[in-house]
Amino acid sequence: MKVKNALLSALAGAGEGYISGFALAAQLGVSRSAVWKAVKALEAEGYTIESVTAKGYRLSGDNDRLSAELIGKALHTEKLGRELFVHDEIGSTNTAAKELAGQGAPHGTTVVADRQTAGRGRMGRSFVSPSGTGIYMSIVIRPEFGIELAPMMTSAAACAVAKAVERLSGSPTQIKWVNDVYMAGRKICGILTEASFGLEAKTLDYAVIGIGINVRSVKTTLDEELRAVATSVEDACGARLDRSRLCGEVLCQLERYLGMIENGGFLADYRRRELLTGNRITANVGARPIEGEAIGIDDSANLIVRLDSGEEVHLSSGEASLCRIKGR
Ligand code: BTN
Repeated sequence: MKVKNALLSALAGAGEGYISGFALAAQLGVSRSAVWKAVKALEAEGYTIESVTAKGYRLSGDNDRLSAELIGKALHTEKLGRELFVHDEIGSTNTAAKELAGQGAPHGTTVVADRQTAGRGRMGRSFVSPSGTGIYMSIVIRPEFGIELAPMMTSAAACAVAKAVERLSGSPTQIKWVNDVYMAGRKICGILTEASFGLEAKTLDYAVIGIGINVRSVKTTLDEELRAVATSVEDACGARLDRSRLCGEVLCQLERYLGMIENGGFLADYRRRELLTGNRITANVGARPIEGEAIGIDDSANLIVRLDSGEEVHLSSGEASLCRIKGR
């Protein structure tokens, strides 16, 4: 490992505490001037490192860099994120994770980027992914449960993001069926799950869950049209979250909620946050427009809609699109 990366791990491991140059040199097995050079190299990369005479060095609390070392410090998972690839820039983390999965990458392998140049959203849309404000991450999942439960992975992922953001920001989050996470009435996160099926289409080889979260202010990075429907955690509630810490927390929560798919245990958290329920909604089922009252989420995470005829339909994420509260 490079001295610079070893230093970053050591500083991240010390948390709020200072470590002296002497102790760092001993821990890393290098000279004190090599430590000093590594500090300067990290500063040049944008890390803020506080240095106090007679105390030593520590990472500033307001460090907002995405790095394997800082994410690793926040990671309390068994499998998710244990194979971790962090990029400053990438086309799409989903594409990269699918490539890794195709080469046999294990369950939990995670690709994270500070910026995507070809971020992809649902229904063939692009996902604006500027540097310094968001988390763009994709996780390879090799589920042990049957293919029929696979669609619920996306709902579990929405719960994971909602819970993680709420824990670190202290402000409430909502979920708009099927997989958008909201704060203060606007979207802060989108999720794109892509699956690869076995030859007979009866088994799931792997899925890649792609999560894009707007964390820091997007006032200058998203155009006006997007800001009418999207916001960030910071713009919605003022919390300036550390992106690496949030990334680690999302992975922890995702591992927890994926473990609750088979017994449906995650549904209570999903239902409690779901935004459409109780509202008059419009949607397209295939090409057919429908209108009715959203009355709940069933045990397969489908949206239950009561049409004006009195008929109740259960919409799956695969068949329904453009689902929104009427008039909004
Ligand atoms: C949507 O709201 O339409 C889904 C957006 C999903 C975006 C994420 S960002 C990380 C991952 N990589 C991608 O290219 N897309 C997903």
